[in-house]
Amino acid sequence: MAREIPLIMMKEIGYTYPNGTRALKNINLNIFTGELIGIMGRNGAGKTSLIRTLNGLIRPIYGNIYIKNENINSKSIATLSKIVGIIFQNPFHQLFANSVEEEINFSLRSLNLSKEEIQKRTDQTLREFDLEKYRKRSPLNLSGGESKKLAVASIICRDPQILIFDEPTLGQDAKEIEFFINLINNERKKRKTIIIITHNIEFAYEYIPRTILMTEGQIIADGSTIEVLNNEFLIEQTSLILPQICQFNLALQELGLQEINKISSKNDMTDYLRNLIKNKSSKI
Ligand SMILES: Nc1ncnc2c1ncn2[C@@H]1O[C@H](COP(=O)(O)OP(=O)(O)O)[C@@H](O)[C@H]1O
Ligand SMILES: [Mg+2]
Repeated sequence: MAREIPLIMMKEIGYTYPNGTRALKNINLNIFTGELIGIMGRNGAGKTSLIRTLNGLIRPIYGNIYIKNENINSKSIATLSKIVGIIFQNPFHQLFANSVEEEINFSLRSLNLSKEEIQKRTDQTLREFDLEKYRKRSPLNLSGGESKKLAVASIICRDPQILIFDEPTLGQDAKEIEFFINLINNERKKRKTIIIITHNIEFAYEYIPRTILMTEGQIIADGSTIEVLNNEFLIEQTSLILPQICQFNLALQELGLQEINKISSKNDMTDYLRNLIKNKSSKI
């Protein structure tokens, strides 16, 4: 069988801002169709710059990016935005219409759809995101969580093949995070390729299969999330804190109770503790 060509290929790219900040250095990255991948690293590591190269908001000063095997160098932001949807950290950077309905409507307008189709899709999106009740409201008068939802809705309605989220769980309450996780699961069923920048290590550990770590404009690790986030050395490099489950494994190991990495989910952890307590009390 022929080897699958990655959907996104970054070949030795670099970027320096006009003020001289070298934000990206010698980045090589392949992402395949249908992958869910996390990008982690401390503030200023280059995460946002990296994703901005994917829809042409910034253009590498060296190296090349290929999407669907085509060099994106000569493609306009408008063309790339049909394939790559980016939901930015601060929703107010992307919301500008006078009402929630208009925001979705406007986002759909560049897609060459009929007026009826645009209205149909707008209504459907408002329903799916539970935003119907705010249809006529100004996006400026939504709560933090609702405006984030609208920002996501205004990108998802365009049905881009690649979805990128910059810090989606930041400042979200448990219900909003649950909504986001459901949304991700739904998009994955449609074989969407999803990239998530996050500082939320527990979320990454539980939901994201592959993680890349960045420091100072470079990728210092790229692999399965469980392996990457269990690596104390790498975690230290990026000022992250080991996921609770890894800390739990380490504590057990220090007590001579368990081999490292046996426990890989919260369920495993509670099962293990339950058994431990049961065995202990039966010995008394
Ligand atoms: N518009 C800009 N002009 C100049 N420097 C920038 C700009 N945006 C980001 N930077 C710098 O580029 C580096 C990478 O930033 P960024 O990609 O935003 O990192 P992250 O998203 O990981 O926090 C940082 O040193 C940051 O200060
Ligand atoms: Mg950022």
